[in-house]
Amino acid sequence: MKVLVVGSGGREHAIIKKIKENKNVECIYALPGNAGMADDAVLTGIKADDKAGIVKFALDSKIDYAVVAPDNPLVDGCVDALEAEGIPCFGPQAKAAIIEGSKVFSKDLMKKYGIPTAAYEVFSDAKAAQKYVESCPIPTVIKADGLALGKGVIIAMSREEAKDAIKSIMEDKQFGDSGNNIVIEEFLEGPEVSVLSFTDGKTVVPMISSMDHKRAMDGDQGLNTGGMGTIAPNPYYTKEVADRCMEEIFLPTMAAMNKEGRTFKGCLYFGLMITKDGPKVIEYNCRFGDPETQVVLPLLKTDLLDVMMAVTEERLADINVEWADESACCVIMASKGYPQSYEKGYEMDIPADVKPCVYVAGAAEKDGKLVTNGGRVLGCTATAADLPAAIDAAYKMVKRISFGNAYYRNDIGSKALAALGKDK
Ligand code: AMP
Ligand code: GLY
Repeated sequence: MKVLVVGSGGREHAIIKKIKENKNVECIYALPGNAGMADDAVLTGIKADDKAGIVKFALDSKIDYAVVAPDNPLVDGCVDALEAEGIPCFGPQAKAAIIEGSKVFSKDLMKKYGIPTAAYEVFSDAKAAQKYVESCPIPTVIKADGLALGKGVIIAMSREEAKDAIKSIMEDKQFGDSGNNIVIEEFLEGPEVSVLSFTDGKTVVPMISSMDHKRAMDGDQGLNTGGMGTIAPNPYYTKEVADRCMEEIFLPTMAAMNKEGRTFKGCLYFGLMITKDGPKVIEYNCRFGDPETQVVLPLLKTDLLDVMMAVTEERLADINVEWADESACCVIMASKGYPQSYEKGYEMDIPADVKPCVYVAGAAEKDGKLVTNGGRVLGCTATAADLPAAIDAAYKMVKRISFGNAYYRNDIGSKALAALGKDK
């Protein structure tokens, strides 16, 4: 089989490495991929947002199966375009990807179908929004409606901050048209859990739970990033919480999307907060999380491509999706300065025995050598019998990898260890 994977980051590298385990796969193409994946996939240089180019490549190369991983192409209908040419895909069509593409849509969906989430108001007028935050409870949370590279959420700790956020999103158009509408919602408190799930519109199969570490610095200090590390499973996701989530969130979401004529097929990501009143949805994503995928897929025992194809063919109920009874930890190595300005072009040294555990997000080739080419450069994942061992093993590998201006958090997993009563 010839498989193509749209995207270029660490998440895509993890998907590619896992798909490569399938015996029927003869070739995997990355569109565009990055130089750090060259051992695992053929790099094409075709950009993830070049819908017409992707379809043409798929037809010319006689692709048997396509995986569309990032949010932008999904929301933009890349799956629709491939399917129109008869190419089977993993990923939702645009009409279902809207669950991530519009926060107004997802909040209204949850309200309509009684799915637990933060209370909210929608505004299309900046003045009305400004007036609202003069008297609403503080802290409050301001969210741009559309995609904003993961930066469209502002937790305002004061009325001033709330007003500034409304101005920059709605008036200064910091995120372009994504900020034409905003959601202002109740500030929730509690541990966060990421649950990715496979769904074919008939069955939901939650994957192993995980915990992201979004802030740039140790102790959850500093700016929000795309994610500085992950662990799985998440200790806050107990059996009791999982059962409630299935009953109150996962199944109702799938049913709601079906009712709306927007059947979701692919990976539906539930960003959850475990509040004192039970689990609530913070956000939906229409795709695998990054860097959640880098801890979840290494624990998957069932063949990933088999599961994906079962989703496409709507026979997920017939597949037994199994997970290793282990833990995983992924530490992201970034370029110093990320998520703000940083330098690129430093030579990378990754020992050969560590390579299988490394998912490269931002690398390029220069004079035959691998050099850094992004804010998040790579993720290093270890799996082990328990979480302390996985964390130790991940950091041991990280210390053996070197590149100029490398930066990583030293406390990935420490909150989870504390929850398990295993903190040092
Ligand atoms: P999102 O981009 O929707 O994942 O939001 C980014 C982060 O903002 C989340 O991971 C939460 O930590 C935080 N957040 C989002 N919505 C809320 C909320 N209603 N209350 C508290 N924190 C929130
Ligand atoms: N790690 C969060 C996300 O993928 O959106």
